[in-house]
Amino acid sequence: MADDTTPWWREAVVYQIYPRSFADSNSDGVGDLAGITSKLDYLADLGVDALWLSPIFTSPMHDFGYDVADYCGIDPVFGTDADFDDLLTGVHERGMRLLLDWVPNHSSSEHPWFVESRSSRDNPKRDWYVWRDRQDDGSPPTNWMSQFKGVPAWTHDDLTDQSYLHVFLAEQPDLNWANPDVEAAMLDSLRYWLDRGVDGFRSDVVNLIGKGTDVDDLPDELVTMPLLACDRPFGHELLRRIRQLLDSYEHQPMMVGEVYLLRAGESASYLGTPEAPELQLSFDFRPIHTRWEADRMQSALSKMEVDFAEPGWPTFVLSNHDQPRHRTRYGSQARARAAAVVALTMRGTPFLYAGEELGLEDGIVPPGRVVDPDGRDGCRAPIPWTVDGDDESGHGWPVRPWLPFPANASSNAADVQVGVRDSMHTLYRDLLALRHHHRVLRRGDVEFVESDGDVIRFERSLGGERIVVLVNFADRPAPWPVDLAESVVVLSTDRERTLAGGELGPDEATVLQM
Ligand code: NOJ
Repeated sequence: MADDTTPWWREAVVYQIYPRSFADSNSDGVGDLAGITSKLDYLADLGVDALWLSPIFTSPMHDFGYDVADYCGIDPVFGTDADFDDLLTGVHERGMRLLLDWVPNHSSSEHPWFVESRSSRDNPKRDWYVWRDRQDDGSPPTNWMSQFKGVPAWTHDDLTDQSYLHVFLAEQPDLNWANPDVEAAMLDSLRYWLDRGVDGFRSDVVNLIGKGTDVDDLPDELVTMPLLACDRPFGHELLRRIRQLLDSYEHQPMMVGEVYLLRAGESASYLGTPEAPELQLSFDFRPIHTRWEADRMQSALSKMEVDFAEPGWPTFVLSNHDQPRHRTRYGSQARARAAAVVALTMRGTPFLYAGEELGLEDGIVPPGRVVDPDGRDGCRAPIPWTVDGDDESGHGWPVRPWLPFPANASSNAADVQVGVRDSMHTLYRDLLALRHHHRVLRRGDVEFVESDGDVIRFERSLGGERIVVLVNFADRPAPWPVDLAESVVVLSTDRERTLAGGELGPDEATVLQM
């Protein structure tokens, strides 16, 4: 068991829910809070420790909730305050924790703050956003391009004859964190949810808040990626103050930041130092952006280890609501199974994306049903709870959901996997149980050991306990390491395997105890 000083989030496995796509309780085709509550037993049985909900706040939904019109309000499409309290109580009753998605860089253009800000140049909230004059030739104030749609990151507002900054959609104006009133209001929104009992936050594109009003022209090669170019000392200063707020709460709330920088390893700097801590966790998306090849994966994971060495602590993410699912990227169920073993046996806090425990592929979204401004509908396809349905309807959803189902929904629905020994669901459940059972998997050091070309081998160790993980990245057998002939198999993607030795099967991943 963890000693008392181990923060819970180092020991936890977090499960990300995209609420619109999880479970629909009121038959409007969009998932909601009561739908999530109805699946809490499923989640507790799976064995995850914390749930992170993508945004549930009041929103006109231009970016499906990442455009917030009230940081303290629940959007009616997701339910009511009472639904939220029921969910939080249900989560806590089952010994899990709940994280909300906080979107500090930008609000919705329908947020009352922005409505006021754009109303006149001398409105007290004018400076809550980033307003600038156009250039003399009528071009935008600076060369920044939006992350979406290839348009300038500035929109001109005729009413006051100035332009406002939006690194994402025009409906997502960037807040000006250099204004202390913005900082105070946003910290109040954290307090609001912490006082209601939430256990922490995932913080959206959090490195961007450090730009303040420092938005001068970017070098040509960075013009289309302002997000990746924003790494300013002021951001760290803000995060230190945010951390002080979190640390003032006894229940140890945690913030995991989405830090997207040009050089991946730099996200580790957002953890701060033991004397001046910032985020508790900072995502590193190298596993998402690395091909399923032994040498590439080993190199990416080794670099993460260096970047997030103690006193740092890494995360491990294979899929989320912004990228094609790893089942789709890797192209086979066998590889997705092996990847699950890596995700749940490496050092760090794993973040699972709802449906990966079912081996779901992305949905195939016909042009007429595309709704996302950035082409991410596929990975947001609804979760198929039952086998009974087609591409468009059924699968435990009371009416046709807002997006088509994953391509493999029928064969991979939850009801045909739970309790079935060979299923992806059982593999995840077993891996989660193994991680809970073996402290070395949660807390131990990790070391990569030289291995056969297609195989990666890493060892976790803590005190006298030692676990070895072998992963064959090839679709042909690989030799079994001679020094591991006597070890004990504790889990394998090959459910028939009970003994060490022989050969490592195609795409097999095996966990051994020494
Ligand atoms: C990152 C979120 O994950 C993504 O879904 C969103 O569109 C952008 N930030 C803007 O908030």
